[in-house]
Amino acid sequence: MNKKIKNICCLGAGYVGGPTMAVIAFKCSHIIVNVVDTNQQRVDAWNANDLNKLPIFEPGLDKIIAETRNKNLFFSTKIEKNISNADIIFISVNTPTKTKGLGAGKASDLKWIELCARQVAKFAIGHTIVIEKSTLPVRTAEVIKQILNESQSKYSVDKEKKTFDILSNPEFLAEGSAIQDLLNPDRVLIGGDNKKAIDSLSEIYENWIVKEKILHTNLWSSELAKLTANAFLAQRISSINTISVLCEKTGANVKQVSKAIGLDHRIGNKFLDAGPGFGGSCFQKDLLNLVYLSESLGLNEVAEYWNQVIEINNWQRKRISKLIIEKLFGTVGGKKIGILGFSFKANTNDTRESSAIQISRDLLEEGAFLIIHDPKVNIKDIEYYLGPNQKRDMQIDSETKGYGCWSFTDNLEKIYQDSDALVVITEWSKYSQIKWDIASKNMRRPGWVFDTRGIINIDEVKKNGLKIWVVGNGEL
Ligand code: UDX
Ligand code: ADP
Repeated sequence: MNKKIKNICCLGAGYVGGPTMAVIAFKCSHIIVNVVDTNQQRVDAWNANDLNKLPIFEPGLDKIIAETRNKNLFFSTKIEKNISNADIIFISVNTPTKTKGLGAGKASDLKWIELCARQVAKFAIGHTIVIEKSTLPVRTAEVIKQILNESQSKYSVDKEKKTFDILSNPEFLAEGSAIQDLLNPDRVLIGGDNKKAIDSLSEIYENWIVKEKILHTNLWSSELAKLTANAFLAQRISSINTISVLCEKTGANVKQVSKAIGLDHRIGNKFLDAGPGFGGSCFQKDLLNLVYLSESLGLNEVAEYWNQVIEINNWQRKRISKLIIEKLFGTVGGKKIGILGFSFKANTNDTRESSAIQISRDLLEEGAFLIIHDPKVNIKDIEYYLGPNQKRDMQIDSETKGYGCWSFTDNLEKIYQDSDALVVITEWSKYSQIKWDIASKNMRRPGWVFDTRGIINIDEVKKNGLKIWVVGNGEL
């Protein structure tokens, strides 16, 4: 008989842990789900009475939290106690790319994973199933396994021997559609070598997902499948972005090309939208993991192949900044440029690896005054990437020494006043509903609109006397 799961603990209340556990609690009212985090502020935000203050914005998440929180879903910093009580532990902590040391710039930093494994080793009681949920380099399960196994003799008292099973259960949710992706996933992947443990985890998902969609593989296939899925998706975006510039130069239209190729069922129509380059916490990190893995196995051609997907992404961002500067007569110094959207895609407040960061930095470096708008992003996240918000008047003063400054507004209409250009970076739906007569009246001439997502009504912009450039379409 496999173990019946009554109590789950999830380490890490982030973009993966929070929504995933909320949906498990929602679908499994018979299971107690404890989500723990070392960050007290984050836990407090998850416990906020005002559901608009949850640390993560995800459509539909607030309703699920309202249904489950403090019934069978709990957020706290009580890590030790909840590890001890758990039948199953999900590890959903952050694994950013290393910034220094061995593998810097490529390998994932596993220090938080290792710390979790050590905490589990110390506080778990009896038999515990440990699930690797964060996206991780292939063979990380081996690290967790070693830490847990070697701790058994140290912490086990004879009567109560600690035992562990380690499974990989990568999360495929995409931010902005996380709840829908969790409620109705294309597949659930469980990698491991112990059938009983796999069955225990499968049973949780079987509360709302048909068995046929729950795939069982070995540990390494599961880990590698997750990296490969993200690498393939990222590759499609880089591929279509290379085609976008060919369209701009030849008079083709990237949307028409995407549609034409997407109707071929072997290609499929998803992930063919040209844009400012992919962002988010996963694609670049996972590609780098793949590159690092290939290099460490001496497979340099394979490493180079996947590295090129990242290179093209960086190139797309750079070419957009360059193009904006060129269209504004080769200089943006002292010019006011509205940045529409700072999150890495619509329907999320997440800014990690957003293309808005690089494009904003490039324009600031050239002395621009940026006024940034985003409906959900927190100004502190922008400060993290761009430096302090210097709330200066739009008149760039002589002390600026050529480097621009930025300010933030959540009032879209404020962005138009005296702007020389508006750059659409995130595809928030409200940007496709902009009233171009109002925008145009308030902008300086020649007023430019740079649409890096292809969501703006071109005719309306032109009718109101503004100039427009659209990714994969060019100047129109
Ligand atoms: C991704 C994977 O989709 C998900 O399965 C995995 O679990 C985590 O990584 P996420 O990063 O949340 O999810 O967002 P995704 O929708 O994949 O978009 C990533 C980036 O690609 C965004 O910046 C998005 O704007 C961009 N993108 C996506 C395009 O530029 N064009 C497209 O056609 C699709
Ligand atoms: P992801 O997108 O992978 O969910 P996030 O950065 O959004 O990543 O969330 C990871 C969370 O894990 C953070 O809130 C962080 O505070 C938390 N965390 C890191 N280390 C630990 C730990 N040892 N125990 C519990 N939580 C942790």
